[in-house]
Amino acid sequence: MKINRNYLNLQDSYLFSTIAKKVNAFRAANPDREIIRLGIGDVTKPLAPVVVKGLVSASEDQGRAETFHGYGAEQGCDFLKEKVRLYYLEKGVELESDEIFISDGAKSDLGNILDIFSADNTVLIPSPVYPVYVDTNVMDGRRIIHVKATEENGFLPLPDQKIKCDIIYLCSPNNPTGAVYDKAQLGKWVEYALSNDAVILFDSAYEAFIGEKELPTSIYQIKGAEKCAIEFCSLSKTAGFTGTRCGYTVVPKALVRENVVLNSLWLRRQTTKFNGVSYVVQRGAEQVFTPEGYRQTREAIAYYKENAKIISDTLTELGIWHTGGKNSPYIWLKCKDGYDSWQFFDYLLESIGVVGTPGVGFGEEGEGFFRLTAFNTKENTQKAMALFRTLYEK
Ligand code: MLT
Repeated sequence: MKINRNYLNLQDSYLFSTIAKKVNAFRAANPDREIIRLGIGDVTKPLAPVVVKGLVSASEDQGRAETFHGYGAEQGCDFLKEKVRLYYLEKGVELESDEIFISDGAKSDLGNILDIFSADNTVLIPSPVYPVYVDTNVMDGRRIIHVKATEENGFLPLPDQKIKCDIIYLCSPNNPTGAVYDKAQLGKWVEYALSNDAVILFDSAYEAFIGEKELPTSIYQIKGAEKCAIEFCSLSKTAGFTGTRCGYTVVPKALVRENVVLNSLWLRRQTTKFNGVSYVVQRGAEQVFTPEGYRQTREAIAYYKENAKIISDTLTELGIWHTGGKNSPYIWLKCKDGYDSWQFFDYLLESIGVVGTPGVGFGEEGEGFFRLTAFNTKENTQKAMALFRTLYEK
C-alpha cells in the first residue's frame, strides 16, 4: 500500500481551517470577549424568500408519490440548466444546455476538474489567489509556476509569452484582492491560451458583485474563449448558498485538446463520480434566476457592497492603503507597519476581537497584506471599523 505522498507537500491545514482553529482557541481562552468575523467569505443574510419557497415546495414534492424524484441527471436538472443558459444569454453568451453542469459549488468543481488533465501539465497560478488552486494541484503533483499579482500590476498579472504553461487559473473579481480584469486584459489571456494550446480555468464566483457595466462577468464575453476556457460559478456568494450548496460549471463543446472534446471527458467524470445536486436544492436555485429571485438576491449583494464601502471609507480616512470592495466583497489592505500578515491577524484578534484573513495565506506575494470581507452584518461591520479606528488613532 502506498499513500499519495503529494499530500505530504501540502501545508498542515487548509487556510480557513487554520484560522478557525486559532479563533476557537482564542474563544476558549477568552469566553467573554466578543469576536467579529470578517475572515472567511461566508454570508450572513438568509436565503431570499422566493428561494425558500422553492425549497419548501420541492421538499413537499419529495413527500408525495406523484411528484417524488429519485436519482436525477448527474449534470443537473433541465429546468435549472435552462435558467442558467438564459442567464448567460443575457450576458450575450450563447450556450447549449449540455455545456452547463450543475454542481454543489465552485470549490468542488475547481478541484475535481483536474481529473480530466494529466498530472504532467504545468500549471500557472497567480499569487496571491484562492488557495484551492494551489492545494489541489499539489495533491496531484503537478508543476506549478506562480505569476506575481502585485500593487504595480494592479493585482492583475498579464501573460508572458516567454513563460509556457498548459493550465491557467484566473479569478475575476479576484479572491482575495477584489481586482477585476477588463475585456482587453482578459483578451490577452485568451490569446495566450489559444496560441499555446493551454486551458484557462476561470473562477467567476464573484461575478454578481461587478457593478461596472463595461467589465466582463464571464470569460465567454471574450471572443475565442469558448475554445480555451472552462468557467466555474457558484450561488454561494450570489444568492447566499454557502450552506445550501449549488453552483455551475461551463465546459464548451468547442474546447478540444488532443482531438478530444473536453466536455465529453467532464461528462464521463461527473456521471461516474457524482450523483448530482439534490432535486430540492436545484428547485431553490431555479428561483434565483426568476425576476423576483434576481431582485431579492441583488438586494443582498447591494447590502454587502454597502458594508464594503463602510470598510473602504474607514480605511481611506485612516490613511490605510487598500484596494477592492468596489466590484467585490473583499477589501485588500496593507498590514500596519512592522507587522507581517499573521502577526497582524493575531494583533487584530487579540486587541479588538476582529478576525480577518492573512494575505500570505493566499500565496507568498500576499505577505504584508490582509483581507477583510463585507459579508458580516452592517452593525458588525460598523462595530469592527470603530474598533479598527482605536488602533490607528492612538
Ligand atoms: C473565502 O473566504 O475565500 C471563500 O469563502 C472560500 C470559499 O469560497 O471556499
